[in-house]
Amino acid sequence: MSAQEPAHHPPQRVGVVAESVSGETRVAATPATVRQLLGLGYEVVVESEAGAASGFSDQAYLDVGAEIGEAWDADVVLKVNSPSDAEITRLRQGTTVVALLTPAQKPELLHTLADAGVTALALDAVPRISRAQSMDVLSSMANIAGYRAVIEAAHVFGRFFTGQVTAAGKVPPAKVLVAGAGVAGLAAIGAASNLGAIVRATDPRPEVADQVKSLGGEYLPVHAAQETSTDGYAKATSADYDRAAAELYHEQAADVDIVITTALIPGRPAPRLLTARNVAAMKPGSVVVDMAAAQGGNVEGTVPGRAVVTDNGVTIIGYTDLASRLPAQASQLFGTNLVNLLRLLTPGKDGRLAIDFDDVVQRAVTVVRDGDVTWPPPPVAVSAAPAVQPETRLAEPEPKRPRPTSAGRFGLIGLGMLAMFLLMAFAPAQLAGNFTVFALAVVIGYYVIGKVHHALHTPLMSVTNAISGIVVIGALLQIGHENRIVTALSFVAVLLTSVNIFGGFAVTRRMLSMFSKG
Ligand code: NAI
Repeated sequence: MSAQEPAHHPPQRVGVVAESVSGETRVAATPATVRQLLGLGYEVVVESEAGAASGFSDQAYLDVGAEIGEAWDADVVLKVNSPSDAEITRLRQGTTVVALLTPAQKPELLHTLADAGVTALALDAVPRISRAQSMDVLSSMANIAGYRAVIEAAHVFGRFFTGQVTAAGKVPPAKVLVAGAGVAGLAAIGAASNLGAIVRATDPRPEVADQVKSLGGEYLPVHAAQETSTDGYAKATSADYDRAAAELYHEQAADVDIVITTALIPGRPAPRLLTARNVAAMKPGSVVVDMAAAQGGNVEGTVPGRAVVTDNGVTIIGYTDLASRLPAQASQLFGTNLVNLLRLLTPGKDGRLAIDFDDVVQRAVTVVRDGDVTWPPPPVAVSAAPAVQPETRLAEPEPKRPRPTSAGRFGLIGLGMLAMFLLMAFAPAQLAGNFTVFALAVVIGYYVIGKVHHALHTPLMSVTNAISGIVVIGALLQIGHENRIVTALSFVAVLLTSVNIFGGFAVTRRMLSMFSKG
């Protein structure tokens, strides 16, 4: 090769290794994300059986073009959990290892990695800024864990979440309280309300109220002075706040069937929300899921990693592996977050990793570089925007519809009025009358339905059904007609509409009684 020719570097090898932590079911890359890594120019080698616990066979990885073999000596090693000391000895000097490293809690791990002469990227150090959301593993896992918390609660709870009227009697809807409406909390609110429960949620950040509402929950504010968040995370709560919140939890604990706690203030032990007295006030058969079990717990009596039943028959679930309980989903989102990070680190798409310390995201995740500890990074200015937009997390964003300008809006109103005027002027009197009734019905219907909570829409429908029986009046007027066929038809109409009226009111009454206290 001549001195002028650019040096040609072969693509680097990415290794996907198996997890050694007991009970871990996730894997750092799925066959789908391996295909994307190959698209970035890397060669990929997967350790045999690495994806087995997530349901991905070695053959599935081979089918997309990966090799199965020794993955620890690759140039870039992808993992879910931090490597153990024994695993670190298997890394080559100069390797880049990417995993959840909890750098703030494990300074000794960073030194061991530095001594091994490797570069380490901590996935849990991705800053919470909108540009980095696609790499934010903690949010992906919290979203899955929040959903799973509801499923775990539903599994233990001996009743339906949704209210029902059955031939065998009526079933009231379950009441769920979610404490902390961050990523996990919003996922729990969405899952519980989709199952049909009445969901309430509280959080010291009042800006989450709209997000709670948009997922079908009711926001319970705590009326007390509280410092506002400037970085999307909550500040430690004030004594005033804690006093007012304690009252709210006391009241709610006795009323709800399920409590899911997700309260977290970064860098602090989990705040205590429910005391043993609150749990004792819950009904037998109620369930508490304490998602903060690993950080000390939001609930008195939580045992990390276990489900315990209290003397009054309340189950407190303290599982710390909620995301791993949905292994295929968790691996897929984890793997996609990793691909997004590697895409940022592979600007040439040439299978060569290049870390740019001028980029805040790359700087923040690099905790060890070529044998030097580079943690903590300089602080990143993040917006005070809510941590996560539920619409974009939980579903594809709706395409934006163009909004009419005010001139356009006035034009439309003018056109509508002109059309109305023409209709009134030229249509037969009867049509104009019917049209007026129709237009008024549309306006009244829109406001009535819009003002009624969506949980009450079914009783509203049944009562509307009853009211529709007003046509009985028409049938009564015709029943004395000299034509026998008209009389017979009127009789049938009276019979059927009566069933509609009485049935509609009876169903409405039964359904509304499910929502009344006691
Ligand atoms: P996040 O930071 O998005 O949300 C935490 C929420 O708690 C914030 O909205 C905050 O305002 C709120 N909060 C803070 N103090 C509060 C208080 N005193 N009362 C009520 N709310 C309060 O955190 P994320 O990602 O939603 O995680 C939530 C928790 O779930 C964390 O403890 C996390 O470690 C845990 N987690 C547990 C898993 C498991 O397997 N058990 C898996 C994933 C996450």
